[in-house]
Amino acid sequence: MTFVENPQRNGSEPIAPSLTAAVRQLGLDSEYRGRRFRKAELLTILARLLPQSPAELLFSQIRAVAKANGRLGNTQVRCQGQKRGTTYSFSDADGGGLSSDAAEETMPQVRDSRPAASPAVRSFRAPEAPTSAGQITVHHGDNLPIMERFEPASFDLIYIDPPFNTGRDQARTRIRTDRDEQGDRVGYQGRRYRTTVLGKSSYADKFDDYTDFLAPRLDQAYRVLTSSGSLFLHLDYREVHYAKVLLDQIFGRESFINEIIWSYDYGARSTSRWSAKHDNILWYAKNPRDYCFNYDEIDRIPYMAPSLVGDEKAARGKTPTDSWWHTIVSPNGNEKTGYPTQKPLGILTRIVRVHSRPGSKLLDFFAGSGSFGEAGAQWGRDVTLVDESLEAIEVMRRRFVNYACDFRAASSIPDAIEPCSIVSEDTEPAEVVESETSGSGAGRQKDLF
Ligand SMILES: C[S@@+](CC[C@H](N)C(=O)[O-])C[C@H]1O[C@@H](n2cnc3c(N)ncnc32)[C@H](O)[C@@H]1O
Repeated sequence: MTFVENPQRNGSEPIAPSLTAAVRQLGLDSEYRGRRFRKAELLTILARLLPQSPAELLFSQIRAVAKANGRLGNTQVRCQGQKRGTTYSFSDADGGGLSSDAAEETMPQVRDSRPAASPAVRSFRAPEAPTSAGQITVHHGDNLPIMERFEPASFDLIYIDPPFNTGRDQARTRIRTDRDEQGDRVGYQGRRYRTTVLGKSSYADKFDDYTDFLAPRLDQAYRVLTSSGSLFLHLDYREVHYAKVLLDQIFGRESFINEIIWSYDYGARSTSRWSAKHDNILWYAKNPRDYCFNYDEIDRIPYMAPSLVGDEKAARGKTPTDSWWHTIVSPNGNEKTGYPTQKPLGILTRIVRVHSRPGSKLLDFFAGSGSFGEAGAQWGRDVTLVDESLEAIEVMRRRFVNYACDFRAASSIPDAIEPCSIVSEDTEPAEVVESETSGSGAGRQKDLF
């Protein structure tokens, strides 16, 4: 631990080594050298550099040091101005920093979020952002019928973050389709099918039915994945165990590769049990012997005790484990869209870079604010997004204004029903499919989360 004088508290305040490493970075990195930062910018940068710590806390430590014109590790931290006009600068304490005049010239600009891939990327290795962004296609509507119309094996990577609870009555219609030249449905290659309704069922939307809601959609996810494709299912601790059992049935147990724990540190603490501050992300590979894992694309994170591993290793950083520390989307950062449950680009960018390649086809059929879409397009992947909420569509319209983005109503997809949609691909077309229609969901958007 490094101890610095904290003038605000009139005493010595322990500063985590990672904070001093980050501040040193701000002093030395040519990206930051000579720049001056306002508080909001610093919070964003700190959240990226040190996702495991609350940026506000780190900022207040930096501010305390800056007010005293003090040193944090090897870095001189200064501030100028008062309250809202205050800016902060960092320079190499050995004199390597720029003068305040130079600093004046490079007043902060809002930066393109593209290279801010994941938390510690900037500290260690600049990611090579592709020169051209991918294409985004957004479908508005219930994802099940939309996915039934996607071609089999058409996506390399699927990430989904379904709502905990659909918040509405679900009505399910079981239908049977038979080949019939006069039939009412058109399948692939123009083949026609006759639909027979076998029965209807409905259920109140409660906890027990969650897997019933998810199952047909995960069947579709399996169907539309390429043979070397991967699915990432983002849930919370209440649902993950049921979903694991479901996915084991659909993909096979051997296809389960990892459970990623995304830990954050935000909000109130429970006084009656351990505060739940993590989400669970299940990774299934369609073929556990052939999947995409770009080791070299993994962003590196700082060692907790860099002095124990030597300079070279400390400078390179280490790869993360299956526990990922990352702040939630900052309520006052650039990334925020205002959509509830928005997931951070840092998490999704890591998934995109490691589990797909430029040119890969990506899908998120619970798209929300489109975070996965942005992460994918930034890294040159074509992304298809689906969401049934108009609010989500509006947020994505604003978010993707600078991207090549095509918005489609569900009805605009050609009515091409894939009759073998819920059976394994090597079976003859199964003639029974299930489809869902929604009941009284409209206007209950808040319940979705
Ligand atoms: C938890 S949010 C996703 C948030 C997203 N990952 C983000 O970063 O913004 C879940 C989304 O699923 C959508 N959704 C729920 N049921 C759906 C369905 N049957 N079809 C399509 N979208 C659905 C909701 O409208 C909501 O936007």
